[in-house]
Amino acid sequence: MYTKKLLALLAAPFLAQAAIEPGELVTITSAADSTNQAAWWAPLDQYGGYDWFAYLRNPPGGSTSNNNVMVARRSISDGAIYRDCVKTSSGECAVFADDAGHNTPSIAVDGDGFVHVFTSMHNEQWKYFRSSAAYSSTLVDRSSEMPDQTTIFTYPMVKRGNNGNLWLIIRGQASGDSSAKGGYFYRYSTSSKQWTRVSIWAYNTGYSVYPDDIQFSSDGDVHLQWEWSKYPASAVRHEGSYLRYRPSTNTYRTITGATVSLPVTQSTPDLVFQPLTSGERYGGDINASPGPAFQSAKLALYEDSVGTVHVSSGYRFKNTTDGAWQVRRATATFGATNPWTREIIYAGVETTAALGITHDRTTVRIYYCRQGDSAYVLEKTSNTGWTNTALAPAQGKRVERLHAVMQADGVDVLYLGSPTNVNSSTGSVYRLAVGGRA
Ligand SMILES: *[C@@H]1O[C@H](CO)[C@@H](O)[C@H](O)[C@H]1NC(C)=O
Ligand SMILES: *[C@@H]1O[C@H](CO)[C@@H](O)[C@H](O)[C@H]1NC(C)=O
Repeated sequence: MYTKKLLALLAAPFLAQAAIEPGELVTITSAADSTNQAAWWAPLDQYGGYDWFAYLRNPPGGSTSNNNVMVARRSISDGAIYRDCVKTSSGECAVFADDAGHNTPSIAVDGDGFVHVFTSMHNEQWKYFRSSAAYSSTLVDRSSEMPDQTTIFTYPMVKRGNNGNLWLIIRGQASGDSSAKGGYFYRYSTSSKQWTRVSIWAYNTGYSVYPDDIQFSSDGDVHLQWEWSKYPASAVRHEGSYLRYRPSTNTYRTITGATVSLPVTQSTPDLVFQPLTSGERYGGDINASPGPAFQSAKLALYEDSVGTVHVSSGYRFKNTTDGAWQVRRATATFGATNPWTREIIYAGVETTAALGITHDRTTVRIYYCRQGDSAYVLEKTSNTGWTNTALAPAQGKRVERLHAVMQADGVDVLYLGSPTNVNSSTGSVYRLAVGGRA
C-alpha cells in the first residue's frame, strides 16, 4: 500500500520547481536610521566565516537628522554579533548627515580579511573606511589614500573578485566638468594595499551614470551593470547597460563579444539591455518620475558546462506614465548575436526600489518588495513558469529594501531593510537565508 506521503514523494521529481525554504529571520539591529535605504548599494558581504552588514543608525544622544555608519560582523557558525561604528582619525564615531538613497554604505571584505566601507557621498569627495586588522568591525578613515582626490562621487558599489582583490564602480564628476557624470572603475590590490583607477568606463556628455552591480566569472573577468539619466541627475533612469572587463588584457567587451574602446555610451552597439520604449525619453525627468522609465538593476551570472557565461539582469521598469514599477529580466548568452531577451515577470501592485537576483545554473530568483507590504521572491527552475512567493518570515516586518548574496551551496543570504518599522526615525535590518533550490 502506498501512503499519501510516499505518493507525494514519488510525484515530486516531476515537479521541477524547487520549494522556497526560508530560514529563521535574524534581527541584526532594531536601531537602524530611517534613511538606511538604497537600491544601488552592496550592504552585505560574506567572508571568513562571517556575514558583514553595513547600516546607518541614529547617533546615540545626537540628532535624528544625522547618522553613524555601523559594521556588524555576525559569526555564521554561532550567530554571535560584534559591531562598531566607522571612526574618524580622532577615534570618534564618524557623524554624517542623513540623505536617504545617497548617504548609505557599501561594504566588501578583501581576500586578506580587511573590511572596506564606502559611504555618505552625494557628489562629495571620498568617504572611505578600512579596518586596520583582519576581520575587525572597527574601521578608520582612509579617504586620503584614494586616487582622484578632487573628483566628487556618489553611489559606491564594491565587491571582492575571485583572487581577493576588490572592484569598485561609482559615479564620478571631475572637478570643473559641468556636462556629465561618468562611471569610474577602481581596483584594490591586496598585495599593494592600494586603490588604483582602472578606467572611466562610461561617459556621455549630457548624461549621468548610475552604477548598479558587479559580478565575476570564473576566468576573473569583471561584469559591470549600470543605467543612465540626463545630466545632472534624475530619480528615474533609462537604458540599462552591461559590459565585460578582462583584467588580463585590459579590454572591454559588449555582450556579443565585440571589443569596444572607452568610454562607452548608450550608442555603443549592444551595450543596452533595455532600450528606450515607445514614449520613453530623457528630457524633462529631472526631479520628476514619469514613465516609461528604468530604475535599479542587479546582475547574476552562471556558466554552462562549456564555460559560456549566461547573463541575467533583474531590473525595475515603469512602462506607463502613472503605472506601477514592474519587475523585469533581460537574459543573454555571452557571445551571441542579438543576444538580449526581455520579460515582464511581475506587474502588479507598486514595488519599492531595491531588488536582488541570483542564479545557480538551474534556478533563478529575483527578490523584490511590495510597497506597504514586505519581501517576495520570484523563482523559475529551468523551463517552468515563474512562481511568486511571499517570504513568510519577513511578513509583517515592512521590508522596503534588500540585497541578495548567493552562497556556493545555492542558499541565498538576504539583507532585509525596514527603515521605519520601529518608529518614524528608527527601523530594522534583518538577515534571512533562503534555501530550497532544486
Ligand atoms: C505594460 O506592461 C503590461 C504588463 O502588465 C503590458 O500588458 C502592457 O502591454 C505594457 N504596456 C506598454 C505600453 O508597453
Ligand atoms: C524611536 O525609537 C528609538 C529606539 O527605541 C527611540 O530612541 C526614539 O526616541 C524613538 N523616536 C520616536 C520619535 O519615538
